[in-house]
Amino acid sequence: MRHFKTFVLFLMIVSSQMAGQEKKLSSEERLEWFRDAKLGIFIHWGYYGVNGIGESWSMYHKSISYEDYMDQGKEFTAENYNPQEWARLFKKIGARYAVLTTKHHDGVALWDTRLSKLNVKEKTPAKSDLVAPFVTALRKENLKVGLYFSLCDWSHPDYNVVFPRPDTKKDYPQKNQKELSSWERFIRFYKGQLKEINDKFHPDLYWFDGDWEKSSEQWQAQSLKDSLLKWNPNAIVNSRLKSYGDYSTPEQGVPIVRPEGAWEFCMTMNDNWGYYPSDTNYKPKSQIIRTFVEVIASGGNLLLNIGPKPDGTIAEEQKERLLALGEWINKHNTAVFDSKAGLPAGHYYGPTLISKDNKKVYLCLFDTPQNYISLRGIQNKVRSIKVVGSVQELSFERNGGAVWNNIPGILRIEVPEIKNMDIYVTILEVELEDELKLYRGHGNAVELN
Ligand code: GLC
Repeated sequence: MRHFKTFVLFLMIVSSQMAGQEKKLSSEERLEWFRDAKLGIFIHWGYYGVNGIGESWSMYHKSISYEDYMDQGKEFTAENYNPQEWARLFKKIGARYAVLTTKHHDGVALWDTRLSKLNVKEKTPAKSDLVAPFVTALRKENLKVGLYFSLCDWSHPDYNVVFPRPDTKKDYPQKNQKELSSWERFIRFYKGQLKEINDKFHPDLYWFDGDWEKSSEQWQAQSLKDSLLKWNPNAIVNSRLKSYGDYSTPEQGVPIVRPEGAWEFCMTMNDNWGYYPSDTNYKPKSQIIRTFVEVIASGGNLLLNIGPKPDGTIAEEQKERLLALGEWINKHNTAVFDSKAGLPAGHYYGPTLISKDNKKVYLCLFDTPQNYISLRGIQNKVRSIKVVGSVQELSFERNGGAVWNNIPGILRIEVPEIKNMDIYVTILEVELEDELKLYRGHGNAVELN
């Protein structure tokens, strides 16, 4: 009997451990929606839009005093904030997720955190939590919710900064924490804020920033990642939690070499993240659309930034660019969403995409070609070549190669009529008879004629 009881107890322990294991998803499983998302919208919304200055960094670089920076809060009204409208716009243009700055390095929280008084509910005419309605609006449109959180907090009294700062203790009430060191207090604080964010908003994606200021051990990055996954086993984390991220986040410069693993390229529309009206150096729509194409052709997502005004509206220049990208995406919807990273270099001069079933190759044309378009090293028979978004079917001819030796020649494709060329990026859909087979040879001698 005793043996039997011990055996039952053993079975219970093993099965509870197995149940625990079942819940733990691999990073690939958690990344499933992200790998397919293609477009996300980054939103830098904060006090800095009031004076139209650099987000947080203007304090760091001492171009504004701490007091004057925080004074901007008095005009952060959010009076025309309409997150449903934002979410509808994002959905309409083909975005699958958005990432909002819940707290930048300045320490100002956009939600009504109980852990500091430095939040928009306490300090601004907005007088309410601005994150909650954003999360609700995104979910209503079936968009994934990303929340940006800066690990560093340049207002917290236990966090050292390089610029002059008054005593901020009154904004960070700390009860019964006298026995802790200042860093232990800070860790407790920032992890507490993340627990609040998790409990209130259950984000699909944690977008960290500022990790460069401390070491992995100091941030307790590993235990934080474990906690995030314990709270929400489906969550994903960007690469700015030291080495504990699930995907990489190159910023501003499009990668030249295709990054390994899942990745996301974040980019401003002008030269600043927040609302900065004197910065009129906007990228033309053509550049934004080309960049989007280059990124998805290399298997990444574009996280395109907007910086709403302090009243919550989106500047015309930014809206126009979102809409132009959206119009282009909608016209080329299948090529964008039913695809993955394209051909390796050498087969085509320009970005390409491959359909998920491997039976189509999409060729992207940035400029109007001369004479013919060439595609090389395709072993398959080609069924048809069409200009996406038009009815034009293109003629093609295979030339050169040695079929009996499995060396395919060049496919010479007719140039589309000018009226069928898209003003930004034209896409040709090459439909194959069967799954893509590439010739990757170095060019061997034909020994058998
Ligand atoms: C950099 C900047 C930060 C900005 C972020 C966006 O880390 O320091 O201000 O929010 O990029 O990726």
